[in-house]
Parts: sequence; C-alpha cells; structure tokens
Amino acid sequence: MKTLAQCRQDFDILNSGEYVYFDNAATSQRPRQVLDAVSNFYKTANANPLRGLYDWSMEATERYESARKTVADFIGAKAPEEIIFTRNTTESINLVAYSYGLDNVKEGDEIVITVMEHHSNMLPWQMVAKKNGAKLIYLEPDEEGVISREEYTSKITDKTKIVAIGYVSNVMGITNPVKEITEYAHSKGAVVLVDGAQAAPHMAVDVQAIGCDFFALSGHKMLAPMGIGALYGKMELLENMEPFLRGGEMIEYVTREDATYAEVPHKFEAGTVNAGDAVGLEAAIKYIQEIGFEAIEEQEQKLTALLMEGMSKLPYIKIYGSKDPKKHCGIVTFTMDGVHPHDLASVLNDDKVCIRAGHHCAQPLMQFIGAGSTARASVYFYNTEEEVKVFLDRLFKVREVMGYGA
Ligand code: ALA
Repeated sequence: MKTLAQCRQDFDILNSGEYVYFDNAATSQRPRQVLDAVSNFYKTANANPLRGLYDWSMEATERYESARKTVADFIGAKAPEEIIFTRNTTESINLVAYSYGLDNVKEGDEIVITVMEHHSNMLPWQMVAKKNGAKLIYLEPDEEGVISREEYTSKITDKTKIVAIGYVSNVMGITNPVKEITEYAHSKGAVVLVDGAQAAPHMAVDVQAIGCDFFALSGHKMLAPMGIGALYGKMELLENMEPFLRGGEMIEYVTREDATYAEVPHKFEAGTVNAGDAVGLEAAIKYIQEIGFEAIEEQEQKLTALLMEGMSKLPYIKIYGSKDPKKHCGIVTFTMDGVHPHDLASVLNDDKVCIRAGHHCAQPLMQFIGAGSTARASVYFYNTEEEVKVFLDRLFKVREVMGYGA
C-alpha cells in the first residue's frame, strides 16, 4: 500500500511545493490516475454512450455503467440503478426538489432543513415551499454546531414531508446525526435527503445504514473532475418520480403528443451523458479506496489538531464550531479581529497560501453565528504538517501586514 507521502507525488499541481492549498472543502485536487482515466476514455473509447451499435459506443456504455456500479458500491446502494449521474450535488438536490418535492409537498405541509445548509440544500426547498404554499422550518444548532435530539424531535412533526440535511457542514465541519434524524423523520412519515457533498470525500458512507431516501454527492470534492456528481435514490421513489430534464435517451416511446420514459436511472439522464468524467469519478473512488478512510481521517484529524492548536495561540483569532479537532472533518472556519476575511485571504495569497473567505454559500448560517463572513482553511489527506507550519507562519504575519504592529 502507498504511503500518503507517496500519494502526494500523484498530484502534479502540488508538486512544485510552491503553494499551500487549503481550500479542499471548495474543491479537491486530482491525482494523475484520475486525469489519465479521463484522458484514456477519450483516447480509446470515445463515442456517444447508450446509443451506438458499434464497438466504441458499446465500450463507452460499459465504462459508464461500470462507474455507476462503483459509485453504488462506494455508498452502499442496493443496486447500480439507484445511482443517477448529475453534474454535482446542487443538480442532484434540484432534481429531487423538482421531481419529488413539487409533486409531493402540498399547501400547509412542512419541509425541514437546518440553518447550516449550503445554499444548494436551501434554495431548492425555498422554491418548493413558495410554489406549493408549504412552510420551511429551520433546525438550529448550538454554538458547536450540534443539532440536539430535542431540536429535531420538536420540529419534525406529522406535517413534515421532507427533511433535507447536510451530513457535514461546509462551515462548521460538524457531522450531523443523519441516521438518528432519518429514523425519527421516517417515524413521522417524511422522506429524507442527505447532502453528502462534504462527507463522501472524508468518511465511509452507507446509505442503507443511514436509511435515507436520497443522498447527493459531488465528484469534484473527492478527486474527480468538475461536472460529475451523483444522486442516490431508493428505487421505489425514483420509479414514481417525473423526469427532471427531458430529451434524448431518456424515453421509451415518443409520439407527436406524448412520451413514455425509459427505466430508472436513464429516465433521469437526458441528453448525452458525461461518461468521461464518470470514468474519472470511478478512478477517484478506487484511489480513495486504496488509501482507505482510516488513513484519510487520521491525517485530516492530525492536521486539523495542529491548525487549531497553532491558531488558538493568537488571541485575536476566533475559531467556529467544536473545540474538538476530530469534529471538524478537516474544516477550520475562523475570523481575525480587525481584519476582513477577504483581506486575510488576499494577504495569504501573496504568500501562495490558498484558503476560502466569504459567506461560503451559507449566508443564513453566517447571520446565525453573527459573522458577515469568515475565513476557512480546509485540508485533505495529501496536505502535510509542513504546510500547516507554513500556513501558521504566514497567518501570524497577517495582522502586521494589515498595520497592527508585530
Ligand atoms: N461548497 C463549496 C464550499 O463550501 C463550494 O466552498
């Protein structure tokens, strides 16, 4: 098995050692194996999948469907057909909102989400609630980002039709008790969607153990190309949903007036599919599996602990979320007194340190924690202790650069 130091060599973009890339919660880097898999698809099997009756097209179809099975196994789906390829988590959640939400949420019903959601798991539900006269209810966490049992059992009721919850918050880094929430939501007759964008790259996911009805993930946060994501849905739900997009290859039969649709999952994959990047996602999953989540989590926790320890030496830094680095999933969101997060990120950029600053597509959470915007450092398994040292060293100098004196 390769060590993490050996894995690091697979990431050409990091190899110069010039840059410290701590914006992994926004998007990960890609190893050579993933880039090669995509390139190999186009070099050796490029044809439109699912249509052609010639070798290349059939080969493209085979590789695309193999990727579907790999995703299904990776998250513990019962069958590959329960996986729909999308562009990303945002598209996956919109698919559920349009194809399930609009048809199943009625006036007076309730949709429950949390105030920690990324906009992609908030705006689609705002849309469903507005269009159908339903109410959007927000679960609120405590200071550490924890949603208590009391909070969700008091807000998920017989009126709740959908619960949509992030597995891991992209700001607080906290892991929500999605299994417990799903169990409770089911006891009230609600359907549960889990936004797994920030979880799938970092921890073993088992959708059957969670029991959720839908699960969304993005390839680009887990070593795969941008533009490929997946939606898991329980077959009985998917079968009864209307298509999201309509067009080529998702039909069974079309007349001038009407159409019948292909079986799931193809009913939800209109138009030419992104087979090249699906193959890239398969290579990414295999790469992750080869390392194993134990090693990934261990490295992330070690780096997070070092980051938090170093940052807490500075009295003018406030770290959001749990005090326990193990509960951050590699994400450290913070503010520095007297320095706007955008200035902070720009000063760090001058030193070739990449972090994210702003509202992180979670504006209601920013309002909730009382920060207009924050800075966020987020690590992945290929980051190193040396990089943490460089980051801390540069961070210590930011206030000086901003005119506060040493
Ligand atoms: N969702 C991504 C982030 O948190 C883009 O940065």
